[in-house]
Amino acid sequence: MKYIIAMVQPHKLPDVKQALFDAEIRKMTVTNVLGCGQQSGYEETYRGVPAEINLIKKVKIEIGVNDEYVDKAVEAIIKGAKTGNIGDGKIFVLDLPQCTRIRTGETGDIAIG
Ligand SMILES: Nc1ncnc2c1ncn2[C@@H]1O[C@H](COP(=O)(O)OP(=O)(O)OP(=O)(O)O)[C@@H](O)[C@H]1O
Ligand SMILES: [Mg+2]
Repeated sequence: MKYIIAMVQPHKLPDVKQALFDAEIRKMTVTNVLGCGQQSGYEETYRGVPAEINLIKKVKIEIGVNDEYVDKAVEAIIKGAKTGNIGDGKIFVLDLPQCTRIRTGETGDIAIG
């Protein structure tokens, strides 16, 4: 199992969600966050407006997936989030040792899917 953490531009969230749904990935956690990438202190656009601030509003998407869904999830996030400009976001893939569904006590592949 893997845990995918992606930071994307807030206005691309609907496209990312749609691409994930199309890839049959429907479980996710979404949080509003502040972040900065390698242009720290430089100009970046936020909703098409140039912004010269260090921390820019991003959306964090977290998804726990079975191994066979990792590539599909990453591709879907890219498809939904990419504009080709700086600040499009970043995707981290972490090993996920355990997952438990609280209601049933199921663990692992069954619980995550
Ligand atoms: N190394 C990192 N560690 C933690 N968070 C990061 C890291 N790099 C990027 N992020 C997060 O991802 C968001 C988007 O990053 P961003 O797309 O600007 O990455 P970048 O490396 O600067 O690439 P680009 O040159 O395309 O802008 C940041 O605002 C921050 O929240
Ligand atoms: Mg950047």
